[in-house]
Amino acid sequence: MFNFSELKKRRRQLMAAIDKDVVIILISAPESLRNGDVHYPYRQDSDFYYLTAFPESNAVALLLPDSKDGKFILFSRPYDVIESIWNGQSIGQENAKKIYGADEAYAIDQLEARLPDFLTTKVRCYYLGSQNQVLIKRLNEVLGRASQLACQEGLVEITQAVHELRLRKSPYELDCLRKAARISAQAHIKAMQACRPGRYEYQIEAELLYEFYQNGSRAVAYPNIVASGSNACILHYTDNSALLKSGDLLLIDAGCEYQSYASDITRSFPVNGRFSPEQKIIYEIVLKAQQALIAAIKPGVLWDSLQARCVRIITEGLLDLGLLKGEPESLIENKSYKKFYMHGCSHWLGLDVHDVGCYKLNKKWRPLEANMVFTVEPGIYIAAQTEGVDEKWWNIGVRIEDDVCVMKDGCEVLSQDAPKKISDIESLMNSS
Ligand code: GLY
Ligand code: MN
Ligand code: MN
Repeated sequence: MFNFSELKKRRRQLMAAIDKDVVIILISAPESLRNGDVHYPYRQDSDFYYLTAFPESNAVALLLPDSKDGKFILFSRPYDVIESIWNGQSIGQENAKKIYGADEAYAIDQLEARLPDFLTTKVRCYYLGSQNQVLIKRLNEVLGRASQLACQEGLVEITQAVHELRLRKSPYELDCLRKAARISAQAHIKAMQACRPGRYEYQIEAELLYEFYQNGSRAVAYPNIVASGSNACILHYTDNSALLKSGDLLLIDAGCEYQSYASDITRSFPVNGRFSPEQKIIYEIVLKAQQALIAAIKPGVLWDSLQARCVRIITEGLLDLGLLKGEPESLIENKSYKKFYMHGCSHWLGLDVHDVGCYKLNKKWRPLEANMVFTVEPGIYIAAQTEGVDEKWWNIGVRIEDDVCVMKDGCEVLSQDAPKKISDIESLMNSS
């Protein structure tokens, strides 16, 4: 269950950070239809969820910073017996107050009639969560009548204020992130144990999903990537349909959500349980980069220094193998490494897998602070037919990705339970 007093604190912090004559309007995520009357599982907008924990669609929340703690007004679906019979979970207005702590709660069909009561002539309104075109249209009509159109510039400020709060994780959030990472790490272990030539990628995906659900997760944080052989060199491969072949590597990038908090873990290992000499060499370069980045993380370290360090280790490794040729400085300068390593080494992690938060402040890369959570994910991908590359290196795709939290004097690796040393992977895969 969500942490009720923490929600109040988040709203209080946000309202303390903004002008008193501002009304924040939070808009729930729209539902998405799959076909006919079948819907995709609903996922609340992350900003809306962060500030309210309210799980229903068709809801609008107002945050009014006009009293000490601010006020939280919720418009949502009325309690509906029929809805409860068919779909369950009808919350209604009484529960909106009792369970979710709304100071006032109204049915969503009263939005047009009631909203003007909360808008005095001095008030400026800012939306947050703007995917729901139906609700935006309704709000714009009311605001238009009240001559208070939301202002884009202000919107950016409010969004940034919320995202700055989301960037520094509370102890409760860290517990959720830790749990998500632990469940996912366990799923990666199960995948390694279940992997063998002759099975299909989607069968290994089934092992991951089974572990997620068995351990209290109800959703994936992003579509699973279970990519063997040449598929490991396709960064966003999600087809997961190929037959696993002895001699190939399998790259799994999979993470579950726990209480809406994401994990994001990648492991790369041999389908037959033994790394070939070439696979081992590439793997060790990626692991060296990943371990060096993790060792460097602590408060004060600038965000872009991680990518710089990563690029240097990977470039030097590829240079030693003759896969890149030239001087390290110029290979880095002209980004030659991108032939084999074409993505960033990190992104924020939280309610969203690519979580919110600026990477720069005042146009300068920001320093890491305690309680920021992010991924560390170097990789090397050598697709078949890569120009100038001997065939023995083809179809080796390796990424190693962990989730870390910056601590006072270093970092905690939230996903450390998933093995990544070659000897640990091989012994896990070869013990019955
Ligand atoms: N799984 C998405 C990513 O690694 O960024
Ligand atoms: Mn990632
Ligand atoms: Mn990932």
